[in-house]
Amino acid sequence: MTAKKRILSGMRPTGPLHLGNYHGALDNWIAMQEEYDCFFFIADWHALTSDYENTGNISRFVQEMMIDWLSAGLSPEKCTLFVQSNVMEHAELFLLLSMITPVPWLERNPTYKDQIIQLDNKDLSTFGFLGYPVLQAADIIMYKANGVPVGIDQVPHIEITREIARRFNYLYGKVFPEPDAILTQSSKILGLDRRKMSKSYNNAIYLSDSPEDIRAKVSTMITDPNRARRKDPGNPEICNVFEFHKLYSPSPVVEEINSQCRSATIGCVECKKIMAENLINALAPIRDKRKYFEERPEMVQEIIASGNQKAQAVAQQTMKEVRRAVRI
Ligand code: TRP
Ligand code: SF4
Repeated sequence: MTAKKRILSGMRPTGPLHLGNYHGALDNWIAMQEEYDCFFFIADWHALTSDYENTGNISRFVQEMMIDWLSAGLSPEKCTLFVQSNVMEHAELFLLLSMITPVPWLERNPTYKDQIIQLDNKDLSTFGFLGYPVLQAADIIMYKANGVPVGIDQVPHIEITREIARRFNYLYGKVFPEPDAILTQSSKILGLDRRKMSKSYNNAIYLSDSPEDIRAKVSTMITDPNRARRKDPGNPEICNVFEFHKLYSPSPVVEEINSQCRSATIGCVECKKIMAENLINALAPIRDKRKYFEERPEMVQEIIASGNQKAQAVAQQTMKEVRRAVRI
C-alpha cells in the first residue's frame, strides 16, 4: 500500500468567500479531499501581516470562513481543518527558519513589492510583512506536504518554501521534502462589473448571499457591452452572464440562450433573471448547510478544536525532529 500524497493549503480570513474564491480554490480542495491526505487551515497570523492595525474582525472571519468551508463541502471526516494560530508550533518553526533565510530572498519576492505598492494605505514596512513567505514556508513544511494547491500569485512563495527547505536540509540534515505547487486554474467568473471578482472592488456574489441579494446583484451585471439595445444581437462569448449560465444552468438552457442572444430573441433582463434563479438553486445546498452550522456554533468550535488537535499531533512530531536536527 502506498501512502496517500499529502496536500496542504491555507486561506487568510479576510472576509466571506465569494464565487471567485469558490471556483478558484475551494471547489478544487473539495475534489482533492477524496483522493489525498489533506490539511487545510485558516491563516489568521498571515492576516495580521497586513491588518495588524485592525484586528477586531479576524476571529469572527475565522469562524465564518470555517462555516463557508463546511457549507461548501469540505468534510472534517475526510481532511484536517484547522486554525494556524491554534497550532503554536508554526511560530517556533517560523523563528528557526527565519535564522537561515537570507533577507535578499525576501526582498526580491515579487509579491512583496507588488503588495507594498498596491496596499499603499497601509504601512507594510514591517519585519512581519517581509517575513510573510517564511511563515508560509513553516506552514507547509511542518506537515511535510508534497503538494500545495495555490493560485498563480502564490507560486513565488512556494518557490521560496522550496529554497528554505533545501537550505534547512543542507545545514542540518534531511528533514523536509520540497513541496510542489499545484497550480489552481483561476476562476473564469468575473465580478458584476467584469473586473476580477474581489471583495475590495465591491463586485462579488458571496456564498452567503440570500436569494434576494443574488437577484439584485445579478440585475446589475454588465453584459455584452456592444449590445446597446434590446433589438441588437448579442455575443454570449464575451458576456459574463453567459459564463455564469455555463456554470449554473442546465446545458439545454445554455444552448437556447446562446442562440436567442445571437438572434436578439431574448433580452438581457430576462436572460439574467433565468440565470439568477439557476444560480440561487445551485447554491441552495450550501445555503442550507450554512443555516445548519450557523445555528450550531458549538459544533463548529468542536470541528475546529479537533482539527487543531490532529494538526498539532503532526506538528509536534515534526518539531521533535527539527529540534534534534538543529541540536537545540
Ligand atoms: N499566502 C496564502 C494566500 O494569501 C495563504 C497561505 C498562508 C497559504 N500559508 C499558506 C497557502 C500555506 C498555501 C500554503 O493565499
Ligand atoms: Fe449576455 Fe444574456 Fe444579454 Fe446575451 S442576452 S448579452 S448572454 S445577458
